[in-house]
Amino acid sequence: SNALPEGYAIRPIARDDYSRGVLDVLRVLTTVGEISQSRWEEQFDYWKKHNDQYYTLVITDKNEKVVAVGTILVERKLIHECGLVGHIEDIAVDKNQQGKKLGLRLINALTAIGKDAGAYKVILDCSDHNVAFYEKCGYVRAGVEMSLKF
Ligand code: ACO
Repeated sequence: SNALPEGYAIRPIARDDYSRGVLDVLRVLTTVGEISQSRWEEQFDYWKKHNDQYYTLVITDKNEKVVAVGTILVERKLIHECGLVGHIEDIAVDKNQQGKKLGLRLINALTAIGKDAGAYKVILDCSDHNVAFYEKCGYVRAGVEMSLKF
């Protein structure tokens, strides 16, 4: 089925998700560091102001705690007649909540946002370890990620 577990919900990120544990969920992905509430609010307000470009969704459990989070960025290009490309970024599902199809639901919802925005494709970078997960979401291998870290 395509349903979330009983009592769970998927929705756009909200300003008060700071107190619902959104940053702790992201810690399964990488270093988040210390982010004060005011710094969070500044970042949230920036996203909100650019809401044709930044779309972040969260999944909450029956206690309204954030258990999954993910973003799609919509890039405006010149190629493909000023085409749009969606970039999926920073997908994280709480360690204790993995394997319940929350990741799959999140990717499906973010992909639909990209498609509805008019993107001709959606792309993402991931480790070899996550290839099978993204294949289950309908994605196929394409290209190689290059990076230069500072
Ligand atoms: N290897 C193989 N299969 C996998 C893997 C994996 N690593 N992870 C999930 N799957 C499979 C599941 O078994 C399931 O298959 P099924 O439909 O046959 O039962 C299917 O993929 C869907 O799995 P979900 O239950 O939706 O996966 P989950 O909710 O656990 O989310 C995720 C997957 C996002 C990778 C999660 O484990 C996680 O947060 N990991 C740590 C952070 C991370 O790696 N994030 C992604 C970084 S890449 C990026 O952000 C663009």
